[in-house]
Amino acid sequence: MTAYADIDWNLLWQQERRKKSWKHKDNKEWDKRAPSFAKRNKDSEFSALLLAKMRPQPSWSVLDVGCGPGTLAIPLSRLVRRVTALDFSQQMLAQLAWQMEAAHLDNIRAVHASWSDDWQECGVERHDLVLAARSLGVDDLAAALTKMMQWAKQEVMVVDRVGAGPFDPDLFAALGRPFDPGPDFIFTVNILLQMGITPTLDYLEFDRQRRYADRQEALAGCGWMVDDLRGVEKTRLGHYVDERLTANRDGSVTLTRRQPVKWAVIRWSVNG
Ligand SMILES: C[S@@+](CC[C@H](N)C(=O)[O-])C[C@H]1O[C@@H](n2cnc3c(N)ncnc32)[C@H](O)[C@@H]1O
Repeated sequence: MTAYADIDWNLLWQQERRKKSWKHKDNKEWDKRAPSFAKRNKDSEFSALLLAKMRPQPSWSVLDVGCGPGTLAIPLSRLVRRVTALDFSQQMLAQLAWQMEAAHLDNIRAVHASWSDDWQECGVERHDLVLAARSLGVDDLAAALTKMMQWAKQEVMVVDRVGAGPFDPDLFAALGRPFDPGPDFIFTVNILLQMGITPTLDYLEFDRQRRYADRQEALAGCGWMVDDLRGVEKTRLGHYVDERLTANRDGSVTLTRRQPVKWAVIRWSVNG
């Protein structure tokens, strides 16, 4: 039997990560996904639910690591003093820039950088809150969490997957593909506990039902979960969607999943 204290949670996280059913994406792959990710997240409940939990202070500066198209940076910038939005995908930052311009926002600074870059060299200083939402695209989780703490004056917040997170295991079953979600938030919590940090934990659940303009949009809203969809899998994706769709009076459709999307909100103070 192994004692809890002897478990190297960071190593275990790295090992489990190699088994997950979707591939690690580099910045070019995120570039390709930027337009569809931005579209899919524009009217997702995620931002409103997270901001309600976050309770941002007007005086705050926030560093949003892996900000994507500004899912959180845009609404946050209306609630806090300023936001630094950091991402290694140029196309995600382009989406952010369009939204900033459309909304006439001038308190967001975009930084094109990776988790592993020297943030000091990029001119990123310490912020009141350092946030990483659904963006732990790193090889060394313990190092990323430590880096967040070094850049935080007050608090750190991580939004991490619970189980399958946004993925639907039923979709993988329908395609006949094996599904391994890889390590989830419990590894992050254990790494923090071993660092002597006792974070607060909360959960977000949403999107068990999601409305789409039409079937085509519903297909795109599910197809992103699977890398390299091929041949017969496209037909199977169609069956999966059709089995879950109901028509609404206005011509739109609603897709109902068995399980909602679930994320953990892990938060701690850097001042003890
Ligand atoms: C799933 S999106 C999340 C975006 C946003 N935080 C949200 O919650 O909607 C993940 C983002 O993390 C970025 N990302 C992934 N790995 C990264 C890395 N190593 N360095 C910087 N950004 C990264 C991607 O480019 C992408 O924009």
